[in-house]
Amino acid sequence: MSVLRIGHINIRVLDMDAAVGHYTNVLGMEKVHEDENGNVYLKGWDEWDKYSVILSQADKAGMDHIAYKVSSDAALDEFKTKIADYGLAVEEEAAGVLPFVGRTLRFSLPSGHVMRLYAEKELVGTAVGNTNPDPWPDGLKGAGVHWLDHALLMCELNPEAGINNVAASTQFMIDVLGFYLVEQVLVGPEGNIQAATWLSCTNTPHDIAFVGGPVSGLHHAAFFLDSWDDVLKAADVMAKRKVKIDVTPQRHGITRGYTIYFFDPSGNRNETFAGLGYLAQPDRPVITWTEDQLGRGIFYHTGELVESFTSVYT
Ligand SMILES: [Fe+2]
Repeated sequence: MSVLRIGHINIRVLDMDAAVGHYTNVLGMEKVHEDENGNVYLKGWDEWDKYSVILSQADKAGMDHIAYKVSSDAALDEFKTKIADYGLAVEEEAAGVLPFVGRTLRFSLPSGHVMRLYAEKELVGTAVGNTNPDPWPDGLKGAGVHWLDHALLMCELNPEAGINNVAASTQFMIDVLGFYLVEQVLVGPEGNIQAATWLSCTNTPHDIAFVGGPVSGLHHAAFFLDSWDDVLKAADVMAKRKVKIDVTPQRHGITRGYTIYFFDPSGNRNETFAGLGYLAQPDRPVITWTEDQLGRGIFYHTGELVESFTSVYT
């Protein structure tokens, strides 16, 4: 049994029309469904399952839940036992509670973020199909993102109070869900406080990341692009459409990825992320960034942390 990959993220938005405009015209996703409650479902052109983003109207921005796809239906039963044995409450939901999705497990990470696991989601295929596919489809809009790549979740970190939900959620992902640690930031006088982690269940440098902050929240949801050129073009799209950019095209020290950070109309941070960085492997030695080099880890060129980058999230 294993976790295959990130499946979708459910983002809370304040203005649905503005949000749908952003995710379709800026990111270039396709609206594939709207349910009876007004939730909107979107898909990247290179994704084969039905959707990877759910937008839900709410009074407060942020993340409703994040979902990962597991290897089989039987794996859900095994994960249910493991999660319960770890001491976390886990609830099973019937097929169809999430549209086009089989039965799910719903639980909260130690950091409080709601996570779902599922084994089945309706297969619709990529926009170029499976037979003699072209490398990209005609008619892409905006940045033309391939797929939802990862999310970074903010976790409460208060060493004085003995709270480190970065470490707690990281340990859960490793011990229960079978992820492995790829990179970490260690801080504090002894250099032993795990303040940020990047974890993988595939061969990319991160399928989920956790960073410490005053309260739990969503730092960003990231969408994959092929290359640095695509990242530059995505920034052009954002400028044309007057999207609020948080950080212009840059390279990360951590993961080596190429990046832009920007905000959806509700203030949720998005990232367009390109480059594999490197091939992550479970036996590859964990990369550690020290507190004095954290700025270079996040923004490799300037080496300086942007104030809003660590203090503003939903
Ligand atoms: Fe990211």
